[in-house]
Amino acid sequence: MTILQLEKRIIWVSILFALTLFGLAALAINLFHVGLPTCLTDVKPFQKGELITHSPTHYELHYVARMWKFEPEDVTVPAGSTVDIYLSSADVTHGLILLGTDLNLMAVPGVVNYARIKFDRPHVYQLLCHEFCGTGHDRMAADLRVVEAANFKPELPAPATAKPELPGYRLLDAKDCLTCHSVDGSDGIGPSFKGLYGQSQKLADGSSVKVTDKFVREKILKPDANVIAGFDPVMPKTEITDEEIEEITEYLQTLR
Ligand code: CUA
Repeated sequence: MTILQLEKRIIWVSILFALTLFGLAALAINLFHVGLPTCLTDVKPFQKGELITHSPTHYELHYVARMWKFEPEDVTVPAGSTVDIYLSSADVTHGLILLGTDLNLMAVPGVVNYARIKFDRPHVYQLLCHEFCGTGHDRMAADLRVVEAANFKPELPAPATAKPELPGYRLLDAKDCLTCHSVDGSDGIGPSFKGLYGQSQKLADGSSVKVTDKFVREKILKPDANVIAGFDPVMPKTEITDEEIEEITEYLQTLR
């Protein structure tokens, strides 16, 4: 065999190999309903997680990965729907796998990753972060529920209770308190502010305390003391004046 013939054979074998790979990928996409994950360069990274309805069987799901949760944390779609998943990171690199499917994406700061998935049957899928991203990595999870189409009720937007126009809210935002504490009752690194004021809270040492002006003041000034049970003692100290603490306390009372 001459060198030329050998080269020709190698080229043909390479083409055959490439075609087989393409064929297998196409088969996988068809069988498992998972689109090839893609890094999108024409979509701007986003900071808000949401489910957008295109039609009763086609949804667009924007996930934001941040230390240490996925937003939105609980999503419901009807069986039979196709979901375009867009993933963005608000801080460091995270990963996203959807257990029980082939969906596996990275959340890389500055870019958006994308995959399409079709859900045939009702099931509660768990979303996990698979890239070590800090102390809260192991609890970074969320649910994606697929329900019978007949039982699916689109979620109505929650009534606005945050009152962002109040000075207390602006202070909480400016001092980064809202990174860990939500104002709508959703889970965070610290307890949600919603309904917190006036409630009794169990502390890590087993005692109980009522959330009053005094407690709020002490907690802000000495974050290490009075750790609420079930939360890590990670609250940082903040530069803050007495008037600012009063504004914040007043605002917390509006979050019933
Ligand atoms: Cu996010 Cu690990």
